[in-house]
Amino acid sequence: MFIGLQVWMKLLVGSMNKRVAIIGAGPSGISALRAFSTARDNGIDVPEITCFERQSDWGGQWKFTWRTGLDENGEPVHSSMYRYLWSNGPKECLEFSDYSFEQHFGKSIPSFPPREILEDYILGRAKKSNFRDWIKFNHSVRMVENQENGGFLVTVEDIDSKTIIKETFDYLIVATGHFSVPNVPEFDGIETFPGRVLHAHDFRSAGEFKGKDLLVVGASYSAEDVGLQCKKYGAKSVTFSFRTAPMDFIWPQGVDERELLTSVNKKTVTFKDGTKKDFDAIILCTGYLHSFPFLPQELRLVTTNRLFSPGLFKGVVWNDNPSLFYIGMQDQWYTFTMFDAEAWYARDVILGSIQLPSKEERTSEMKEWDDRENNLEDAYGMIDFQADYIRSLMENTDYPKFNVELSQKEFKAWKKAKEKSIVSYRDQAHSSPVTNKLSPVHHTAWWEAMDDTMESYLKD
Ligand SMILES: Cc1cc2nc3c(=O)[nH]c(=O)nc-3n(C[C@H](O)[C@H](O)[C@H](O)COP(=O)(O)OP(=O)(O)OC[C@H]3O[C@@H](n4cnc5c(N)ncnc54)[C@H](O)[C@@H]3O)c2cc1C
Ligand SMILES: NC(=O)c1ccc[n+]([C@@H]2O[C@H](COP(=O)([O-])OP(=O)(O)OC[C@H]3O[C@@H](n4cnc5c(N)ncnc54)[C@H](OP(=O)(O)O)[C@@H]3O)[C@@H](O)[C@H]2O)c1
Repeated sequence: MFIGLQVWMKLLVGSMNKRVAIIGAGPSGISALRAFSTARDNGIDVPEITCFERQSDWGGQWKFTWRTGLDENGEPVHSSMYRYLWSNGPKECLEFSDYSFEQHFGKSIPSFPPREILEDYILGRAKKSNFRDWIKFNHSVRMVENQENGGFLVTVEDIDSKTIIKETFDYLIVATGHFSVPNVPEFDGIETFPGRVLHAHDFRSAGEFKGKDLLVVGASYSAEDVGLQCKKYGAKSVTFSFRTAPMDFIWPQGVDERELLTSVNKKTVTFKDGTKKDFDAIILCTGYLHSFPFLPQELRLVTTNRLFSPGLFKGVVWNDNPSLFYIGMQDQWYTFTMFDAEAWYARDVILGSIQLPSKEERTSEMKEWDDRENNLEDAYGMIDFQADYIRSLMENTDYPKFNVELSQKEFKAWKKAKEKSIVSYRDQAHSSPVTNKLSPVHHTAWWEAMDDTMESYLKD
């Protein structure tokens, strides 16, 4: 990377003695760490970085746990991931542009890997980046206070020693994810249901529902994946219940979709269309809440799971206080690539190589994105929206360019393949916008593939 002497001196002086706190070492926090470590490796003097991670290791959602409820330290279990989870989008559309799948695995691999493969890939880049010692594991951020002279006072609990630490920082990056605090609606009479009722956050294994009649509430990714997964591993029947619109896929035998349930009377569930059915278990795939209990009201992002996050310029910078940044808070078509693009942007604002426009200009640009989202007509428009959003971040930074247009094309092909067959879209091959190569087809059709180990997946 070429940086002029004057700019370099400015960065050097600007970032000296500054302190940055990153909360969370999941993929978004790792992107932030990678952004700063890349600058450091390019000879730029970066501020002092401290990342606080509540769990004992990095990876966020990708760190699978058998636990539900509370973890071994009495902290809420973070991950909502489960056994047999395979990527629901083409891996090519989330590929880091500075670290391809081919580079990590030493060969080109199929397009829809299981969880363990994706975890290995994300952490593979992290392990090569030499920033692990910036992370304090088993450190849970309890409170953040705005300081009068700017900056933030951060209160952290060291979970191992049970001590409270208070430190001040000039900048704060919140990367705590938003798929961990379940949204749990109430349904009339559900307390009389004799079987298991759980939220997707606590779902761990499809095997539990073998031979059972299962009701899955919700009509988005979790519902589709958890319900289908249970059918694949032997559920007797799966009924999806939607609030706004059905998913309308061509489901395998034993799967149907109904309107929202209106009441539950012991085993019997009544739906809005007047039909009734008996069930053995209910899984609420009703989404998650953005939750930032450690932040004061004036710094807290309040949003639903949408593409434009209110209050965030470029989806990253807190408009009312540009020393605060959020990463990964949007509804996610793109994931890791988008987190990287956001992290590079946040880094460059902090390093001073991006000068933010005035608050009025920022507000006006934010309104344009908000209006655009409000006028989107379908999923294809959402893909274009998020692709343009990533472009708008990348044009300001030196995040290595990737073929965004190809990734849009692949996302749209994936969407079409899902519409054609919900059980076989994972058997398709997509092209990488980083290497421009078409990936190989997996050796076993997803519907038949019961073994999700890395060893099995990487076999030719
Ligand atoms: C069931 C499920 C399946 C998914 N499957 C896919 C997929 O196939 N492909 C894909 O690309 N994406 C998938 N996702 C999206 C997933 O959210 C992202 O891939 C990614 O994990 C988001 O990264 P993040 O760092 O923003 O959040 P997270 O992964 O949630 O990480 C946040 C981190 O912050 C830490 N933290 C939280 N609060 C505190 C605190 N107070 N103090 C300190 N640390 C804290 C947590 O411990 C955690 O490590 C899936 C999500 C879910 C829920
Ligand atoms: N294999 C995988 O890779 C995989 C698997 C699972 C999840 N994920 C990821 O996890 C993330 C979260 O997905 P998600 O499906 O949990 O959340 P989501 O996309 O936010 O969807 C929430 C769903 O809950 C429904 N809902 C909310 N409140 C409801 C209520 N009171 N009654 C009935 N329905 C209600 C919503 O219905 P409306 O449409 O009516 O609002 C919507 O269908 C996504 O990024 C997804 O990609 C990935």
